[in-house]
Amino acid sequence: MPFQMGVPSQTDFPAKTWHRLMANAARADRSFSQVYGDPQGEQELRVQIAAHLAVSRQLRCHPDQVVVTSGYRQGLALALTALQVTGAEAWIEDPGYPLGRRAMELAGLCVVPIPVDSEGICVAEGIRKAPDAKIALVTPGQQAPLGVCLSPARRLALTDWAAGRDAWVIEDDYLSELQLDGRAAPALASGPDADRVIHIGSFSKTMSPVIGVGFVVCPPLLATRFIEVASTLSPAPSQTIQRALAEFMSGGHYLRHLRKMKALYTFQRSIAIEGLTELPATIETSGLALKIPLLDHADDKRLALRARELGIAPVPLSAWYASPSNATPGLLASITNIRADNCETACRELNELLNALLKQ
Ligand SMILES: Cc1ncc(COP(=O)(O)O)c(C=O)c1O
Repeated sequence: MPFQMGVPSQTDFPAKTWHRLMANAARADRSFSQVYGDPQGEQELRVQIAAHLAVSRQLRCHPDQVVVTSGYRQGLALALTALQVTGAEAWIEDPGYPLGRRAMELAGLCVVPIPVDSEGICVAEGIRKAPDAKIALVTPGQQAPLGVCLSPARRLALTDWAAGRDAWVIEDDYLSELQLDGRAAPALASGPDADRVIHIGSFSKTMSPVIGVGFVVCPPLLATRFIEVASTLSPAPSQTIQRALAEFMSGGHYLRHLRKMKALYTFQRSIAIEGLTELPATIETSGLALKIPLLDHADDKRLALRARELGIAPVPLSAWYASPSNATPGLLASITNIRADNCETACRELNELLNALLKQ
């Protein structure tokens, strides 16, 4: 649906190339023995991921540090199982990705919401509220959902805190280098003091969730432990898909696709901003979405439900807050499926809703 969050463009998946590479990989399966693959992930894909991260995220790692997963969420489950931190406190960003918060609770962690400002997570506030936390789950590249990049000072403060307290920082790099304004900031795990940062990536946004591939880059200290957990509990996904993806990357298709999507999403964002005219306050850009602030008394959950009935799917910003008292109402509207052929209608529907709200 137009404005739906969390999904890439439905019309620009490189289907022809992908299907050809999948067919090649499936044919090659016949000449492979029918045995289990490497639970850590196929070596050829791990090599491609490590090489890509060095260029795109300035993250230098050895392919042996890479564990292939079915996406970010499997990577998070793998990390939480390997770290054995049940019962400990965990910082989460507030606002933050609701499933990240729930994942911490399911893993038996005591969630401590930490506010986010224009520099990213407020590390000093985290230290004040829960100095002995064992985990900090963050989106340093483009904070979900506010879009801000963690400032250099906060990066340092976060990694210093983790080093001083034997804590771990989990970096959710869900958008990778898909940053629409300028060049993406280096991964947190690329820093000189990042040996306590676990970097989790995913191809769900940069390619498609249909592929179902992600990865973890584990600090060398933890690699053996992560591989043991992958081998026993959560082995890497289908070898056929991994081989097709390795070919897609080594053939330069992935880089070309990312370049194309950045240009396309930038265009789509500009036509959406132009089309949305009935705004209560200044619109903000945030990752692949627009953040539409609403007036204080507005019920953003009701507004989002009403929008669904009209065939558009922005989501309420307040739902991303763990502490309801901190929540500010707003709508998050993804631009990934706003195209020249549906922009006018989608923006008209949203304008009418916002206009009706302003008149209340
Ligand atoms: C902030 C954030 N992290 C992670 C994910 C999930 O990634 P995956 O599909 O690889 O599990 C999403 C999906 O929308 C997200 O918004």
